[in-house]
Amino acid sequence: MESKYVWMNGGLVEYEKATFHFLTPVAHYGAGVFEGIRSYATPRGPAVFRLREHIERLWDSALVLGFRGLPYTVEQLVAAVKQTVKANGFSECYIRPLVYLTDGGWNLNVDTGKAGVGIAVWEWGHYLGEEALEKGVRANISSFTRHHPNVMLTKAKIVGNYANSILAKTESVRLGFDEAILLDPQGYVAECTGENIFAVQKGVIYTPHTMAILEGITRASIITLAGDLGYRVVEQPISRDQLYIADEVFVSGTAAECIGLREIDFRVIGTGKTGPVTKALQLAYHAAIHGDHPRSAEWLEYVE
Ligand SMILES: Cc1ncc(COP(=O)(O)O)c(C=O)c1O
Repeated sequence: MESKYVWMNGGLVEYEKATFHFLTPVAHYGAGVFEGIRSYATPRGPAVFRLREHIERLWDSALVLGFRGLPYTVEQLVAAVKQTVKANGFSECYIRPLVYLTDGGWNLNVDTGKAGVGIAVWEWGHYLGEEALEKGVRANISSFTRHHPNVMLTKAKIVGNYANSILAKTESVRLGFDEAILLDPQGYVAECTGENIFAVQKGVIYTPHTMAILEGITRASIITLAGDLGYRVVEQPISRDQLYIADEVFVSGTAAECIGLREIDFRVIGTGKTGPVTKALQLAYHAAIHGDHPRSAEWLEYVE
């Protein structure tokens, strides 16, 4: 996760100097919001995928947590991300902006603290493993339930929300799986620990509606690409057994990109490897992020 520079509170600092104090409230109460973004190599140099949408979601997350504004505008943060990617010289990297409660806020009130902002970048390969693209991964239905939106607000990438993902992911990996699928408080499929989920049945793509999930930017991109390819996408409640009998199940997220689930709860899904619809979407997504797709023009923010 190393790099040369991290952007912190208005400018680049050396990687080793990008620190904050032990008593910063974000570390104690999860009082912060973050984004996960990727920059990809393209024929025109590095380009950040849907950067503006990610920064707008960062703002929305901050608003949801209760910040009444951030010290930097969307424009300034878009420029700061590009500056950080450029300064570190990576052709491809993961980008992690964090807004953290600092300088007060110790009494569980965001109004008594200030928002600090940092942006780190590092080279990060396939989140769910090298082989996942072809072979797919194995998942379980978690014993942990996804947040009710009145408990932890699922539209926001709030740092504290991710204790739920940590519980589910750790349990899943200890049980020998690669990823966990969480059900919502009503018992329907919500999402994975860091990805949205889709099921394919007889050529139609189903995905849970947005009520209790993070509205993934990859999810939105996959829905658009699926439409471009002529697939019908239906947003509706999905039960766990619908996943078991689906022809294909796949997940989407900035870190994982688009990856098939070959097995859920010891049940083989479809043919037990990446299916044809998932493959078609993987190829379209891959082309889009690398500047080789008609959608690339609207989705890529070139660093230079
Ligand atoms: C809980 C959760 N769901 C879904 C996603 C996918 O979102 P995106 O495609 O915007 O990365 C993420 C990743 O940020 C996540 O943490």
